[in-house]
Amino acid sequence: ISKVGIFTSGGDAPGMNACIRAAVRTALHAGKSVIGIYHGYQGMIDADFQEMNSRSVSNIIQLGGTILKTARCDAFRTPEGRKQAYDNLKMAGIDGLIAIGGDGTFTGAEVLSREHNIPTVCIPGTIDNDLYGSDFTLGYDTATNTVIEAIDKIRDTAASHDRLFFVEVMGRDSGCIALNAGIAGGAEAILLPEKSTAIANLCNQLESAAKSKKSSTIVIVAEGEENGGAYNVAKEVKSRFDFYDTKVTILGHLQRGGSPSSFDRVLASRLGFAAIRHLLAGETRVMVGLRGNEIKTTPLEEVLNKKVFKLSEDMLEMMDVLSI
Ligand code: F6P
Repeated sequence: ISKVGIFTSGGDAPGMNACIRAAVRTALHAGKSVIGIYHGYQGMIDADFQEMNSRSVSNIIQLGGTILKTARCDAFRTPEGRKQAYDNLKMAGIDGLIAIGGDGTFTGAEVLSREHNIPTVCIPGTIDNDLYGSDFTLGYDTATNTVIEAIDKIRDTAASHDRLFFVEVMGRDSGCIALNAGIAGGAEAILLPEKSTAIANLCNQLESAAKSKKSSTIVIVAEGEENGGAYNVAKEVKSRFDFYDTKVTILGHLQRGGSPSSFDRVLASRLGFAAIRHLLAGETRVMVGLRGNEIKTTPLEEVLNKKVFKLSEDMLEMMDVLSI
């Protein structure tokens, strides 16, 4: 491999820039050229490329978002789109790829690499923490901290007014942010995509909270849970149990931004560094991830096919015990 192409794709996540920096500098240190591919797979199809040097990644370790931009790209789902992308990579002399993103990004990388035989190593970057093969994904720690900060602020006003708040957090299929931020923020209840919660049970819980003279109540609702999000849950609860003055806050995309935490910066640097080392050592169609405190590779096929359940049983049990 002499020229490495690097790109980010799908939802951005804090730590992507720190990861780009590490990968670019590790490749340059090994005497390789690096090309930044802008706007993910769309940029591959449009040949939106730019050569990178070590100054291209100066002063970005602390920045949220991704300097390489990102996009979701339908054209890449077709063989014609991928052929166009590969022709552009070939024309630019790119003979190895580093992809940073989530499962959609990895699906594209797996197919492109297999169809056109281009060595590819993937890095888990998504706030959802929903990938098999890595205990943590880039951006998850920062996003969880952002949510806790928001819950703390909501708690101040909720307690002052004796109110019930439903706070919706991201996680289409994953309750990692909801469970961890809920526990760290002392939430009274947490609704998760992985676990069903009957509204009647939630109402019972809220009723006992009211009887035990709680001055505020916060329910964390993961966006992908079965009752259809915080507004619906609030409406359902209100129709059965109208004791509290009720408010809804949707945290939305603010969870995706912000300066990465120290944990995410170090993880990003380790993953970027390891990804280049594995690519140059001849590995392909693998994801680098953190397992225990070690960086390990997992075949992309396994990452994409194995189901993840990252919610610890003790935490699920503790959630109910600690909220009385
Ligand atoms: O994949 C991360 C994620 O933040 C999900 O939790 C959320 O549902 C989705 O992205 C939102 O994506 P978009 O930015 O396309 O609205």
